[in-house]
Amino acid sequence: MTLIFFNSPERQILRAVYKKNLFYPFLSSFLREMGKIISIANQKGGVGKTTTAINLACSLAVLDYKTLLIDCDPQANTTTGNGFDLRNIQLSVYDCLVNDTPIDKVILETETPNLFLLPSHLDLVGAEIELINHPNREKKLLQVLSEVKDQYEFIIIDCSPSLGLITVNALTASDSVIIPVQCEFFALEGLGKLLNTIKIVQSRLNQHLAIEGILMTMYDGRLRLSNQVVEEVKNHFDDSVFHTIIHRNTRLGEAPSLGKPVLMYDADSTGAMNYLNLAKEILQRNDMTHIRNAEKL
Ligand SMILES: Nc1ncnc2c1ncn2[C@@H]1O[C@H](COP(=O)(O)OP(=O)(O)OP(=O)(O)O)[C@@H](O)[C@H]1O
Ligand SMILES: [Mg+2]
Repeated sequence: MTLIFFNSPERQILRAVYKKNLFYPFLSSFLREMGKIISIANQKGGVGKTTTAINLACSLAVLDYKTLLIDCDPQANTTTGNGFDLRNIQLSVYDCLVNDTPIDKVILETETPNLFLLPSHLDLVGAEIELINHPNREKKLLQVLSEVKDQYEFIIIDCSPSLGLITVNALTASDSVIIPVQCEFFALEGLGKLLNTIKIVQSRLNQHLAIEGILMTMYDGRLRLSNQVVEEVKNHFDDSVFHTIIHRNTRLGEAPSLGKPVLMYDADSTGAMNYLNLAKEILQRNDMTHIRNAEKL
């Protein structure tokens, strides 16, 4: 069964993006010393971007890597999912981008050791319009992060379901991007548009941007469709697909309502294990095999 139809322009874009990845291992050791910035992006809604951002960042922090999680979505689900009440958020990423508020005045400490949050707010909806006449509007986040990049080993950015200016800012500031893909029919619908945006950012704004990997999410082993989608995506994207697959797990859905990453809610759950494995796979892909908190594995 063919689930996805790829026309030839999309294939060409893919090839161009892959070519970039060939240079990636040489860059990674250099980038790592300065802290690695990874965006979680897909303009398709509800594919698991926020769940991945929250739980990957928490897993890296638990493995003893100092991590900053950035909420770049006005829905602010990453902010509330870490236990913050939006009514108490005085300053957010919006203020850094639009009002030049120093980032260290905005970053919050979370309940997870080693994990810090740059919160979002509904105000961020207006930022795209307010930045429109700014001369370096695509590089605002890059500028903001340059102040703190050295202080963290990982910076994880949760993007909104859009390819607007804030997502372009996230991609411009990033070393790599993780693309969550839900195990459902039409899983890759719209992916050509995302890959095209990545290619434009690579050619005009950030030549170092690489694809960290495609992450299959909400996998249900009981469904033939889930298995077919994974096969189909692997056929198209080969090694760019993470070995780790995120299973559908009720604990992952429940944890945000308690304001906790799943590891802090139910460490033995499948969801917690999956995201810990994803963090380990990313550390291995980046030759960061020294996993410090071995007893937590
Ligand atoms: N592996 C999973 N198992 C069960 N539920 C999940 C899983 N991943 C995500 N969910 C749930 O699916 C919904 C959508 O996930 P999430 O908010 O992470 O997607 P998103 O891509 O960030 O959405 P948006 O595009 O609106 O920002 C949420 O209710 C979340 O709790
Ligand atoms: Mg989200």
